[in-house]
Amino acid sequence: MRSERPAIDALWPSPASDLDDVAVIAGYEDGVSDAWVRVNFVSSIDGSATQAGRSGGLSDAADKRVFALLRRLCDVVLVGAGTIRVEGYGGMRVDPESEAWRKANGFAPQPTLAIVSGAADLDPGSDVFTQAPVRPIVLTTAAASEERKSALEQVADVIVCGEASLDTTAALNALADRGLRRVHCEGGPHLFGTFVAERTLDELCLTVSPVLEGGLGKRIIDGAPQLPLDMRLAQVLRSDDTLLLRYVRER
Ligand SMILES: NC(=O)c1ccc[n+]([C@@H]2O[C@H](COP(=O)([O-])OP(=O)(O)OC[C@H]3O[C@@H](n4cnc5c(N)ncnc54)[C@H](OP(=O)(O)O)[C@@H]3O)[C@@H](O)[C@H]2O)c1
Repeated sequence: MRSERPAIDALWPSPASDLDDVAVIAGYEDGVSDAWVRVNFVSSIDGSATQAGRSGGLSDAADKRVFALLRRLCDVVLVGAGTIRVEGYGGMRVDPESEAWRKANGFAPQPTLAIVSGAADLDPGSDVFTQAPVRPIVLTTAAASEERKSALEQVADVIVCGEASLDTTAALNALADRGLRRVHCEGGPHLFGTFVAERTLDELCLTVSPVLEGGLGKRIIDGAPQLPLDMRLAQVLRSDDTLLLRYVRER
């Protein structure tokens, strides 16, 4: 296993071997507009979004490589509070190479982290806030306690977007008002379910990890009503036994 830079091949639409970062990025930038909501997940072959309660065990070096490159291509990384609580995000910071790439390509040096918590149930003293290179944003609801909201206002911009649950259109508008139009959502399933239900996503990047997980792990969507939302296959990458799929909204 080449942990430094795992080989990634393109299978479709334009087959190519051992893509460099420029080629990987070009594939993910194809067709993207100035305002864009991209969602990124990893799943087992049988559709589990977790292994032992977290996503980490499903991810390999190729998934991590693409995950890091996708963080370059956004103004804001959007994450649900459940994922923040479980995955231990800490102060989110892209590496120096990514920071240089972002500066050279018209992005702010570091993406902003926006956390969705309907209840504003986040610890203002956690590293997510205290170690953040850019003041984070908390997207919450009118139903959250005023006490929690004002505690979080000490360390983040707190924006109410919805009464009892997140209104994704209001959230995207609030982010756009701050110049944050390229949105990269890293989950989790509840948050993704809201975007799917409200049809406010543009793209899903899905890594299929070569494992049959079984068990009762969540799927990548949780809580959305049953609805078909057609997606178009835009790209297939492969690294060893792992597939990295890119789907965009069929419009
Ligand atoms: N496979 C992957 O790629 C991947 C990616 C991310 C996460 N995960 C896994 O997913 C699991 C967490 O799942 P999850 O569904 O709980 O994650 P989540 O969507 O990140 O978090 C759910 C929480 O986020 C807030 N939230 C999300 N959508 C909301 C909405 N529409 N309105 C108001 N609040 C909203 C709520 O926070 P409050 O409770 O604070 O109100 C809710 O309890 C973990 O096991 C994690 O490891 C997997």
